[in-house]
Amino acid sequence: MRRFVILGHTAPLTPEFSLNDLPGGAGRIDVLCRAIGAAFFLSHDLRRDVEVSLILQGKIQIRILGSKVRHLNPDERSTAALIKHALKRLQEQGDEGREEIGSTLGIYVSRCDLPSVLDRLYQLGARPIVLHEEGTPIESFTMPRDPAFFLSDHLDFTPEEEEILADIPRVSLGRIPLHTSQCITIVHHYLDRREEEDMEELVLCHKVWGEPKALLIKGLLEDFGIPVNLVRHAPPSVYPMAVDGMAEVRIMVRPSDLARAREVIADYFEPPVDE
Ligand SMILES: C[S@@+](CC[C@H](N)C(=O)[O-])C[C@H]1O[C@@H](n2cnc3c(N)ncnc32)[C@H](O)[C@@H]1O
Repeated sequence: MRRFVILGHTAPLTPEFSLNDLPGGAGRIDVLCRAIGAAFFLSHDLRRDVEVSLILQGKIQIRILGSKVRHLNPDERSTAALIKHALKRLQEQGDEGREEIGSTLGIYVSRCDLPSVLDRLYQLGARPIVLHEEGTPIESFTMPRDPAFFLSDHLDFTPEEEEILADIPRVSLGRIPLHTSQCITIVHHYLDRREEEDMEELVLCHKVWGEPKALLIKGLLEDFGIPVNLVRHAPPSVYPMAVDGMAEVRIMVRPSDLARAREVIADYFEPPVDE
């Protein structure tokens, strides 16, 4: 999963803001809405493997989960309306409640500070990374499997935030200061390209007959975080065409995932056949 944590310094903590004045009265909430759009939207589709956390003034977290979210649209005004609704839900809950509560589908809100957000990410096995002009160039950085990118809004990180984030690796997208949403688009593009390149070098992990079984194994491996490509293969001399999906299907994985994928298949199905 790709995660983005965005620190909003001036966005409101209560729902009493006008959707007609997002950059002004609503404390540059437009910056956060654009960042949400950049994190989730593809052309006519939504990235499901993304989580965005907004941390408002270091006090409130609004978490949006791509796999569950509904009613998220590309315009900033309707995204701001979802944030407003989440803040209303929190307000109704009163000041004491600390646990996360659901707002609209796939959006969760809680009273939560930056250290607690970091704790949760570490517990989930995510790897925080601060995006910063002066970090290690992204091309030279070994990207972990479950990165959580921290970005600021239209302002710099505060000295207090800098202190909390001091031990986390810093990654740069270049020396030119960019907008938060632009950084997210560039990170997605970089990671998408890397995944495409990785998939081009896939190696054979297992062969099965029939698509249904291949899809089962693919789903299982993906649950273990192992990307899979299925290659249908029907030798013309044996079967002139694939009948009822009964062609040979080759299960291809990245070289770095091969040993683990073979273990998983052996545990759940059978010893893998790789020749
Ligand atoms: C609009 S910038 C923050 C304000 C900016 N430092 C300025 O004064 O213009 C928003 C955030 O995007 C990220 N960012 C901006 N440019 C970046 C770059 N070149 N490389 C990595 N991250 C960047 C940082 O997390 C930054 O806090």
